[in-house]
Amino acid sequence: MTFNILEPSLYEKARLPLAQAETLPRWCYTSAEFADAEVREIFRKTWNFVGRVDEVPSSGAYFTVDLFGESIIVVRDRANGIHAFANTCRHRGTRLVNGTGRCSAFACPYHSWTYALSGELIGAPGMEGVAGFAKADYGLIPVRLETWGGFMFVNLDRNGKPLLEHLGNAVDTFAPYNFENMVVTRKKEYDLACNWKIYVENAMEDYHTATVHRVSIGTQVCTREESIGEWDAVHMLAATTVAILPGEVSPFPYIPTLKGKSAGGTYFSVVYPNWFFASTQDCMWWLHVAPRGPKRCLVTQGSVFSRETSERPDFKQVVQKYYQRWDKSIPEDNAIAEMQQAGLESSFSQPGRLSLHEPVVHAMAQWVLDRVLSGNGRRLTNGRGTK
Ligand code: FES
Ligand SMILES: [Fe+2]
Repeated sequence: MTFNILEPSLYEKARLPLAQAETLPRWCYTSAEFADAEVREIFRKTWNFVGRVDEVPSSGAYFTVDLFGESIIVVRDRANGIHAFANTCRHRGTRLVNGTGRCSAFACPYHSWTYALSGELIGAPGMEGVAGFAKADYGLIPVRLETWGGFMFVNLDRNGKPLLEHLGNAVDTFAPYNFENMVVTRKKEYDLACNWKIYVENAMEDYHTATVHRVSIGTQVCTREESIGEWDAVHMLAATTVAILPGEVSPFPYIPTLKGKSAGGTYFSVVYPNWFFASTQDCMWWLHVAPRGPKRCLVTQGSVFSRETSERPDFKQVVQKYYQRWDKSIPEDNAIAEMQQAGLESSFSQPGRLSLHEPVVHAMAQWVLDRVLSGNGRRLTNGRGTK
């Protein structure tokens, strides 16, 4: 049987309000065609999380990141500006650098064309006498990079809306945490055999916690937040940090500027499409879920504390309680995500029904379908009308 998997009528039941809705069909998690449409209609048109500004701490510090086949250099220049450039020489296209490092300029490994940290071509040996050649015309190709709270996002689409518009009222909601005053103290990667949506959906629902995290962090009960912009959140009332295991005594001071809901609980949030972050009383952590085709993803977890906390003399010792919590709960989510993918590989798998404890799973499906199916001519809902 062949059919057009981007035909909107195939998704009518997934498009119903939460209490009536079915889950997405299995091919949304298994098919190369659907995954290609997501890259085309979502990832190449939106803001992709790439890291924190403190990962390029000083002039000349750079790293490279692969965004859907595009190698991008992120670098801090001499004037403290941070740039993203396509990682391709303007002479004959050679890749300039791999991995991470520090340099005073980018010298191409092929014929030594040299670029300033701010992208200008400053050296092109042997090009004398070439008709009409001007170095000013051959700087590195810039890619849009914008930051919020010290988090860097890159957009491959020159015409997309600004990052702060994408974030909407997340900017105000999370202002009390002073993310810009934080530093990433540990990053950890997990290469998983599951579709990226499986991982984000799981991170955004509390329904699984009583089962999957029964013997670690335990049950979490959350309520959905109102949001304006391309993000969603649920909030869990809890007087103390949830970044350490139950029974541990809270060892780090709480962020003094928290108030209201930020002081009295934890937000679990997603900036669509694929950047999850949790904000609790004494720290925050993120999970970036990078698709690697339909059936794999690379999850990067970042642990982030205020600069003052990270500079405490006892930080290295005390933070182990936090790392132990994440190193316990995240592998539980990783394992269930791979089990879900394995189950969805069954040709007998049919769409199921969502519980009322999974509002963001439903919202995320609408967000994805709004974009993936838009290339197919119809826009059925705006995804926000079905809370
Ligand atoms: S390809 Fe880079 S200098 Fe020739
Ligand atoms: Fe979980």
